[in-house]
Amino acid sequence: MRDIVRKDINQIKAYIPGKPIDLVQREFGIKNAIKLGSNENAFGASCKAKQAIKNNLEEIFRYPDGTCYYLRKAVAKKLKINPKSLIFGNGSDEIIDIIIKTFLNPDEEVLTSKTTFVEYEIIAKANGAKVKCLPLRNFRYDLSAIKNNISKKTKIIFIANPNNPTGTYVTHQELLNFLKTIPKDKLTVIDEAYIEFVDAKNFPKIINYIKTKNLIILRTFSKAYGLAGLRIGYAIANPQFIKAMEKIRQPFNVNSLAQRAAESALGDKSFIKKTREMVIKERKKMYMAFQAMKIKYLPSQANFVMFRTNKDGLSICKKLLKQGVIVRDLKQYKLDNYIRVTIGKPNENKLFIQKLKKII
Ligand SMILES: Cc1ncc(COP(=O)(O)O)c(C=O)c1O
Repeated sequence: MRDIVRKDINQIKAYIPGKPIDLVQREFGIKNAIKLGSNENAFGASCKAKQAIKNNLEEIFRYPDGTCYYLRKAVAKKLKINPKSLIFGNGSDEIIDIIIKTFLNPDEEVLTSKTTFVEYEIIAKANGAKVKCLPLRNFRYDLSAIKNNISKKTKIIFIANPNNPTGTYVTHQELLNFLKTIPKDKLTVIDEAYIEFVDAKNFPKIINYIKTKNLIILRTFSKAYGLAGLRIGYAIANPQFIKAMEKIRQPFNVNSLAQRAAESALGDKSFIKKTREMVIKERKKMYMAFQAMKIKYLPSQANFVMFRTNKDGLSICKKLLKQGVIVRDLKQYKLDNYIRVTIGKPNENKLFIQKLKKII
């Protein structure tokens, strides 16, 4: 029966999501498990977003507005950009798919990193494309290696900034130099899923470059905005690119409640401020706890931290799981001695450190 599946699909390694809390509790017969495995917002969603959902429940029998009119207006106003520079998707995952379908000709290839968000590779391969994944350098995207590996066939370059799972970033100057020197017929996609957690002064500010470069920026409501379960993300690009992408977008891809919740979440400045401040503060506390335990970690610009273990990361993760703490091993990246932990609420982070201490 396997023969009936496309050969290239058989070769794809499926995405491994973080285990849901409910499943872990059932599996180990425990209560009060904590999830620090999927980089969600540990503080939940904004009350304003939840209220917007309640207020709009009556409209769910109608198809949603495919253009996301009100949300588009709100995002464009916030970012001070043309509303025609935006496209919304069922999570930024869907937009990655739309980008590949819109821009990649049958014989063209995708270039990215070996240790990054795996959906770039999976979605490209699902669309029949070849993908070249280059190693990181000192756990950062190696932009000069990417530049040197661009061939005639290369069309789309995916860069997660900050990167998942490392939390590292490329600087403004590094990115500008890269965009300046790569051939003009290539498209660069910068995935800024974690931008709200960044505090580095030299982090790229690139929105204005969509006017002059072949550049698409991805953003999401799944992380700082706390709406992962609703599935909504967006891309920022030149209106010409957006127009082409809109042609193949499913007509009702973003549901009506997600649109309303995202619009309200966007306006809830105090919720985002509180989330950001808490993550940055707790991130520092996590570093201090690691330092006290002599654990090596990578300083992160996101709401997660990657750290090194002396033993196999997977076996530590399994032990933590049995005790109700969900974190991510990085075996799929061949980083057997590393673990990624999402910054949670202060008490969750404390619990994680306590359990980790006991295990190692
Ligand atoms: C770098 C990066 N981009 C995109 C996503 C997916 O976001 P969404 O929930 O909007 O599909 C993730 C999720 O973990 C991510 O880490």
